[in-house]
Amino acid sequence: MELDLAILNLNSIVTPVSSGPVRGRGMTRIECIKESNIGIMNGKIVYIGPEIPTAEKYIDGRGLIAIPGFIDCHTHIPFTGDRSREFLMRLEGKSYMDIMKAGGGIRSTSEAVRRTPATALMAESFRFLDSMLSLGVTTVEGKSGYGLEREGELKQLRVLEALGELHPIDVFSTFLGAHALPEEYSSRDEYLSSMIEIFDEVRKLTDTIDIFCEDGVFNVDQSRRYMLAAIESGFRIRIHADELSSSGGGLLAVELGAVSADHLISADDITIQALAKSDTIATLLPGTSFFLNESFARGRELIDRGAIVAIASDFNPGSCNIYNPFIVMFLAVTRCGLKVEEAITAYTANAAAVLGVEDRKGLIREGYDADLVLLRAGDYPEVVYNFSRDIVSNVIKNGNIVA
Ligand code: NIG
Ligand code: FE
Repeated sequence: MELDLAILNLNSIVTPVSSGPVRGRGMTRIECIKESNIGIMNGKIVYIGPEIPTAEKYIDGRGLIAIPGFIDCHTHIPFTGDRSREFLMRLEGKSYMDIMKAGGGIRSTSEAVRRTPATALMAESFRFLDSMLSLGVTTVEGKSGYGLEREGELKQLRVLEALGELHPIDVFSTFLGAHALPEEYSSRDEYLSSMIEIFDEVRKLTDTIDIFCEDGVFNVDQSRRYMLAAIESGFRIRIHADELSSSGGGLLAVELGAVSADHLISADDITIQALAKSDTIATLLPGTSFFLNESFARGRELIDRGAIVAIASDFNPGSCNIYNPFIVMFLAVTRCGLKVEEAITAYTANAAAVLGVEDRKGLIREGYDADLVLLRAGDYPEVVYNFSRDIVSNVIKNGNIVA
């Protein structure tokens, strides 16, 4: 049988052994299949092994390793506007929260997103996705959260849907209407109620709801009420938790059985222990710590105690202007204490589990989606070691050579 594509004579195929969610020490278990070939048909991996498959197209894999396409399971695409002045303010000593309280931050992007037509938002996001794809990111999650009213929130979710249809990257969306208090409201409870009122419309566009649970944004009680309403309406839930202060979001995520608790920079011992014993995926975003010059999440402890850990970029205009998965992995390894093998698992198999697609993404395995990155490398540590070099040779998405 003639296949669509075959990649021949790879130095090695590097992949997590098990599909996500992979817990604790299991995250080090990656497999390196030396001197191998991959056969692809109808967008799926159909062959891995020593034989040379017959195919319509071939890629010479000599000098390359293949890893699963990166899955960025936490970004804030789509957005627009300029927050570079905030960067200057932070250099002068203002904190992210100071700027937010003074009416900047998320509200400033919200003003820009509200007045930008969907087509322009699309075009801007499309270019980000192009760059991400060329860096080996084959699946991306994006969020609303910059509309902060019905219209703008639904516009963002529709843009994400359209991006998924038009761009080769698979795009998943999350409703983050509970991202900040818009200036039209003085009561946080009233604003959250207004967001709960649109859950039925949101349901047509996404199955996942997130909240920014943080001192000074939405507290634990407000977040609990909102998330219980989300669960009641059948949504999967995720929480921006313990990002800038230890606010109780991580414990709330465990209590409610959230799919993920994201950030956890300031998670305390009790939270780390609770997450480690739970099925909630601790999603670390070390690019944010780096960009804001904050401390880093305690990845090593989470994994040693048995947590399921994913990593992602958090790409957004305010707290992390980074979408490069190689930089994020480097930070996860050098600052959060992950091993290289764990960082690979965290960006592939476990990130797939955050998005609920672990049965078809995150591994190089027969039957899985043919989402692959070919890197100019002799061995897998180079994925992190060479983080600032351009080592991406080819990107294959659904069996098509896209970069
Ligand atoms: O994950 N914490 C809330 N949301 C983003 C920042 C969004 C923004 O500043 O525009 C985050 O850090
Ligand atoms: Fe975020």
